[in-house]
Amino acid sequence: MATTLPPRTPDLRAPDGALQPSPAGLLSELDPAAAARLRPAPTMPGPPILQAIRFGRRPMPFLFGGRNAHGPTFAFRIPGRARPFTVVTHPDHAKALFTAPFERVPSVTAESPLRPICGESVLTSNGQRHMRQRRLLLPPFHGEAIARYAAGIEEMIHRELDAWQVGTVFPLAARMQAVTLDVIMAGVFGVEGQPAPGTTERRLRDATRRVLRFSETPAFALLELRNMGRLETHGIMKRILDRVDALYFQIIRERRATPEQQRGTDVLSLLLSATDEDGQTLTDQEIRDELITLVLAGHETTANQLAWTFERLTRTPDAHATLKDLVRRDDPAADAYVEATVHEAMRVRPVISMVGRIIQEPWYFGDHVVEARTPVAVGSVLIHHREDLYPQPFAFRPERFLREDGTFQKPGTYTWLPFGGGTRRCLGAALAMAELRIVVKAIAQRVDLEATTPEAEREFHRNVTTIPRQGGRVRVAAVR
Ligand code: HEM
Repeated sequence: MATTLPPRTPDLRAPDGALQPSPAGLLSELDPAAAARLRPAPTMPGPPILQAIRFGRRPMPFLFGGRNAHGPTFAFRIPGRARPFTVVTHPDHAKALFTAPFERVPSVTAESPLRPICGESVLTSNGQRHMRQRRLLLPPFHGEAIARYAAGIEEMIHRELDAWQVGTVFPLAARMQAVTLDVIMAGVFGVEGQPAPGTTERRLRDATRRVLRFSETPAFALLELRNMGRLETHGIMKRILDRVDALYFQIIRERRATPEQQRGTDVLSLLLSATDEDGQTLTDQEIRDELITLVLAGHETTANQLAWTFERLTRTPDAHATLKDLVRRDDPAADAYVEATVHEAMRVRPVISMVGRIIQEPWYFGDHVVEARTPVAVGSVLIHHREDLYPQPFAFRPERFLREDGTFQKPGTYTWLPFGGGTRRCLGAALAMAELRIVVKAIAQRVDLEATTPEAEREFHRNVTTIPRQGGRVRVAAVR
C-alpha cells in the first residue's frame, strides 16, 4: 500500500563530515605541550543566585544564551558550590564522560534536590552501592520484561480516552500523569489496572497525586530550596513526606506478611526477596527508597514528555496530519512514523535538559581544562540543537529519523541523549519508550487535538524536569 509520507527534504540530512571531532579525557593523559595550550571554560557573569533562578525558571533560554554568548563549552554558577557547573555540548565530550569508569565520574544526583526525598536509591547513590542496586533493578525494566506491560498500558490509555469529550480544554500533562502513575504502580507494586479503592496502594496513589499537585506551586519551590544540599528533608517538607512514607512502609509490611510463593513478579516482590553479597535482605528503608524513586522518576517525566509531544504536534500541522493519517489507516509505515515523532519530540523538548557528573580529576574538553571535583553537565538539549547534527534544529520534523523508504533510522548513541548515558542511563528508558509509543499512537488514532494558542508554550523547570508552562494545554476537537 502506498504511504502518504511527505518527501524527505535534502536539507534535513546532516552534511557528511560536518561535525568536527573534539577530543576529551583525563588531563593526565594529554601531552604536556597540548595541555599548556588549554584554558578554563568561560563562566557566565552575574551573581550565582540570579543564575540559579534563571536556570530554574527557564532552563532552555538560559542554556542557549550561555552557549551563544560563550561558546560550546561554558560554565555557570549556583549558590553553595565552590566550582562553577561546566556545560559540554559536543557528542565526543558526552561519549568521554559516559564511557569513563563510574568511580571517576559520580553522578550529581547524590547532591541534587532529589536526594532528601529519594534517600539512597539507585538514582541518588554512587559507586559500588549504585552498581549493586542497578543490577538488582535492571531485569524488571529490561526490554523483554516491558513487552509484558504493553497490553496494560494500552488498556489504561483507552480507558482514559473513553472519558474525553469534544470541546473540553485541559492541560494534557495532568491527564497523562494519571495514566503514567497507574502504569508505574502496576509495574512496581504488581497492581492490575488501577489500585482498588480502600487498598493502601490506592491511598498511596492519591497521596502521590496530591503531593505532585502541591509541587507545582511556588511554595514548593521555596521548600525545595530550603532542603537543597541536605541528606534528609526537614520542616513542612518532612511532614508531607512522612505521611507518604507511612503508606510505603505499610505496603512493604503487608507484602512481607504474604508468603513468598504467593508474591508476584513486580519490583516490590523482587526487592523483598533480594539479598546482598553477605546474604542480607534489604531493610524496609532501603526498599522504600527504591520504590519512591521509581514511582517519582517513572511517571512525571513520561507524562510531561507526552505533553510536549502534543504541544509540538498541535503546532506543526503537517507532521500532526501525517501521523493521524498513517495510524488511522493502519498504514505499514505508521509505527515508524510514531517512533520518529517520539524521537523528534524528545530531541527538541527533552524533559531533562542536561545530566551531570562530578569529575574527580582534572579533565580536558576540546580547548578547555576543567578542575577536579567540578560538576560537568552534558547539555543534551544543546547537543540536540547542533546545526552540524540536526540541520534546521528548531524545526519539528519527525522525517529526520526516517530513511528514504520510510523505515525508522535510529539516532547515534551520543547525539540523541534524552535518557542520559553510560552506567547511569535511565533505568526506565524501555518502559518510557513503550508508554510514549502506545499513548501517542492511541491519541492520534482516536482524538483530534488542537492547541489553544498558536504560540509555543514556554517551558518551566519543576523538580528536575522541564515541563510546558501550561501543562500542554489542548482542546479536544473530535473523538473517534
Ligand atoms: C520520557 C521519560 C523519561 C525520561 C526522559 C527519563 C530521563 C532520565 C535521565 C536523563 C536520567 C539520568 C541519566 C544520566 O544521568 O545519565 C534518568 C535516570 C533514571 N530514570 Fe529515567 N526517564 C524517563 C522515564 C523513566 C521511567 C519510566 C523510570 C521507571 C523505572 C525511570 C527511572 C529512572 C531511574 C531509576 C534513573 C536513575 C538511573 C541510575 O542512576 O542508574 N525513568 N532518567
